[in-house]
Amino acid sequence: MTHNRLELRHVSKRFGELDVLGDISLTVRPGEFVSILGPSGAGKSTIFKLLTSSLQLDGGEIAFDGAPLRGQRPFAFMPQHDALMPWRRIIDNATLGLEVQGMSRSEARARVQPLFAEFGLDGFEQHYPAQLSGGMRQRAALLRTISQQSSMLLLDEPFGALDALTRAGMQRWLQSMWEHHNWTALLITHDVREAVFLSDRIYVLTARPARVLTEITVPLPRPRRDLASPAASAIEAKLLQTLLNPDQRT
Ligand SMILES: Nc1ncnc2c1ncn2[C@@H]1O[C@H](COP(=O)(O)OP(=O)(O)O)[C@@H](O)[C@H]1O
Ligand SMILES: [Mg+2]
Repeated sequence: MTHNRLELRHVSKRFGELDVLGDISLTVRPGEFVSILGPSGAGKSTIFKLLTSSLQLDGGEIAFDGAPLRGQRPFAFMPQHDALMPWRRIIDNATLGLEVQGMSRSEARARVQPLFAEFGLDGFEQHYPAQLSGGMRQRAALLRTISQQSSMLLLDEPFGALDALTRAGMQRWLQSMWEHHNWTALLITHDVREAVFLSDRIYVLTARPARVLTEITVPLPRPRRDLASPAASAIEAKLLQTLLNPDQRT
């Protein structure tokens, strides 16, 4: 099966004088959960911009299911600073992606309605974003993301703004949704523990201009329940060591 196979080969990008992406090669295989872990300002969000917008590469190539990425963008993308539109009810925020694709509002509503229970938002369809907790807003944003009918998810620090407890709950929830729906996921995070808990593999980036410092596999069995198991902590320690001493390649 080649569906949802993403490959970046020696991708580089600069903005004027600013060298942002030095040399990024990475692969996401169908059904995998892969994370990109790197310091703030490294260029992580820029990788997603290259995948989801018309922003041009300066070097390298990107392939999806074996073909170069052209006009089509086959991803469900949740941007880092997701703006649920404050003046639209949750249901109308959820249908936005489908409406933009040309679907009528009533058809789009019928399509997203069954997802509300699964996303823990049952009964909140008519609420406005400000009436929801931070975790619920992120689930609403994710609901809108996956309603775009792609099983390849790009998530840019989806839980970055949440408190630690809510965040841990959301990470567990995302893991179970990923398993249940057979999504392929590429997650950006600067949180080592989050990367270890969720990922099959992790790419660690250097600071700008970003290149791949190391790639590690996370061999912990699933479903994972404990964010702080000894095995997970050992992998975390190794990752932190790598991030803090990028010049001492191990
Ligand atoms: N469109 C742009 N024009 C100029 N500079 C940009 C643009 N987008 C991002 N940058 C710069 O590129 C660098 C990397 O940004 P970003 O990819 O958002 O990093 P990260 O997501 O890893 O924190 C930052 O210094 C940012 O200011
Ligand atoms: Mg970012």
